[in-house]
Amino acid sequence: RPASQMMELTDRQKIAAGVYSVRLVPDEPMPQVVPGTFLDLLPGGLHVLRRPLSIADADEQGYTLIFRVVGRGTDQLSRSPLGARIDVLGPLGHGFDLDAVQPGQRALLVGGGVGIPPLYLLGRRLVERGVQVQFRLGFRDRNDIFWVDEFSALGEVLISTDDGSVGTKGTVAQIAQTDEARRFIPDIVQACGPTPMLRWVKSTLAPTVRTQLSLEERMACGVGACYACVIGDAKNPDHQFRVCYDGPVLEAEEVVL
Ligand code: FES
Repeated sequence: RPASQMMELTDRQKIAAGVYSVRLVPDEPMPQVVPGTFLDLLPGGLHVLRRPLSIADADEQGYTLIFRVVGRGTDQLSRSPLGARIDVLGPLGHGFDLDAVQPGQRALLVGGGVGIPPLYLLGRRLVERGVQVQFRLGFRDRNDIFWVDEFSALGEVLISTDDGSVGTKGTVAQIAQTDEARRFIPDIVQACGPTPMLRWVKSTLAPTVRTQLSLEERMACGVGACYACVIGDAKNPDHQFRVCYDGPVLEAEEVVL
């Protein structure tokens, strides 16, 4: 297991209802970050539990994380002052396979809620490789939406909201019925979001095109200790994956959802 290090909080912004972005800068030079990997943070104060957070973007200097406030750890992080030093493990886990598509091919990136952030770095890296991307992003409502301009700079963005306040009413399953979606025939599908969305992606898209799923939503401790993240192995009923250790990105055909 890698050692933890202290990183400086250099930026913090509220980007949607209950959703924040933070910028973390390590003292040491950074490794090249694989999209879909995550950092495991100890937000400080009285918190003894680490909190895995997905990496939305990364460059040579630091990481950008996007998270929803869901408990004390993320609440603490959303209120940490600039300049705070935060204990961080990682990047951890296995990310998306960038070599799965070639220049000129098409990648469909499907995200829901706070599963959306890692698709930004993934999309950026794919576009750098000459891959054409389409994003299908599912949000709750207009107050929930973030980074549309950033995603739009990389490729076509199709949005759904549960209440129809922006884009297609419903979920990413309803986006699939639109003309823009029907026109885009992908060579790979890469998805991150809540289990019902991933289950839909697996059952409808994975049978015909290679599909990778990030199951990061299931993680709790992020370091293989709590077993909250176990998921069945579709090829071996006697084996289970630990999402934080074997994933969070796994092939759709490998997992039981
Ligand atoms: Fe705790 Fe995987 S998140 S074991």
